[in-house]
Amino acid sequence: MRLCIIGTGYVGLTTGVCLAHLGNHVICIDRDADRIEQLKKGIIPIHEDGLAELMEESMVGERLEFSKSFSYGVTNSDVLFITVGTPSLSDGDVDLTAVKEVAQDIARCMDGYKIIVNKSTVPVGTQKLVTGIIEKGLSSDTGFDVLSNPEFLREGNAVVDTMHPDRVVIGADNMEAAKVLSGIYAPMGGRIMFTSPESAEMIKYASNAFLAAKISFINEIANLCEKVGADVSEVALGVGLDSRIAMDFLKAGLGYGGSCFPKDTRALVRFADGHGCSLKLVKSAIEINEMQRLRPIQKLKDSLGQMAGKIICVLGLSFKPNTDDIRETPSLDIIREIKKLGGRVKVYDPKAMPNARKVLEEVEYCTDAYQAARDAHALILVTEWEQFKKLDPVKLKKLMKRPIFIDGRNVYDADSMIELGFEYYCIGKKDYGWPGNAK
Ligand code: UGA
Repeated sequence: MRLCIIGTGYVGLTTGVCLAHLGNHVICIDRDADRIEQLKKGIIPIHEDGLAELMEESMVGERLEFSKSFSYGVTNSDVLFITVGTPSLSDGDVDLTAVKEVAQDIARCMDGYKIIVNKSTVPVGTQKLVTGIIEKGLSSDTGFDVLSNPEFLREGNAVVDTMHPDRVVIGADNMEAAKVLSGIYAPMGGRIMFTSPESAEMIKYASNAFLAAKISFINEIANLCEKVGADVSEVALGVGLDSRIAMDFLKAGLGYGGSCFPKDTRALVRFADGHGCSLKLVKSAIEINEMQRLRPIQKLKDSLGQMAGKIICVLGLSFKPNTDDIRETPSLDIIREIKKLGGRVKVYDPKAMPNARKVLEEVEYCTDAYQAARDAHALILVTEWEQFKKLDPVKLKKLMKRPIFIDGRNVYDADSMIELGFEYYCIGKKDYGWPGNAK
């Protein structure tokens, strides 16, 4: 099939590369000319395991090209995928500007029947909105169908998730068009599910909101565990072994960040409010998450008293491991709070420092975790990168001015850390818990 991917962010680029890998001819377009020039040279603007290899293979095989020309992409393709950003507006609503502009551009360039597939995360009703915009903008009476096909890939795991989906949701009014799209996805496996466009759009928000709520739920239970002597890791295992609940997304920590859960939960709440429906559970998940990420600050205040002049080492800037994405990451909120209280911050992240430098000044960027720990009065482990799981605690302790270790992702063994002489705090365990609970 001849496919056009509109927007080369995480979703667009990964989708384009994977569909080219499966033998389709794919044109990825983006209005960001610099980005397209880089991609033409094989330079990928994001960190995603396995993507570079697949991209090179498809470029060499001439199945994948990049262009900044909208009309080139549209006229040379049968199926167009919309994969542009839908960021948050300041009031939490979703900003559909990019989707609407793409719809107008598609209408302007269409030269025959096209299937238009929306993969961007959009509220219920957007498939109809896009259909209306294209109908209005068309200069001929060319036919088209707009399908809703939400994306479920995770950053850092994008290629594997795309190539091996749990499910593919296709929301369509026209079953013929839906079958064309399911044929494109068929080689990937995974259950293909046909729904109305409205249900498909809702499935995306409901999935993200459920996962966010699951994380906030276990974090709330973790906070209670600290007070009553239970261990949240044992609790999560015991709860998650119930197949109706399942183990995934029961890792207590400093909460969720990223470009999806925070934005999508806010958008869902706003959307529901606008329809006279208050989503109390989702609102609570958001509130719990906002508090959870700042728990290390209270610990620092309790342990160090005055923060002025104290050096705090922060390990991890990305919102989760294996990505360089710092959008809505807990680290930034933690660092800003430390700075506000007069503390000095030394940071290290294996991949996310170039992105952090664009928004975060007046912190000391270090070359590794040990350099970041040198002379620190406390260390906060925020992102559980593999390399942070294998640090040498003895070396860290020697380097630090005061061995306060705040393990925001429960990576280290509490007993061993205490034995080594750390003032060790983690999440959801009584003896090593947070303010008021410390041994
Ligand atoms: C999420 C969804 O998992 C994808 O299915 C979806 O396609 C994507 O949003 C999106 O809407 O585009 P992503 O944001 O890439 O994917 O990352 P996740 O792996 O889901 O993690 C999100 C956050 O939850 C991270 O900050 C992670 O540290 C946190 N998390 C995750 C926990 O705190 N505990 C857990 O047990 C799991």
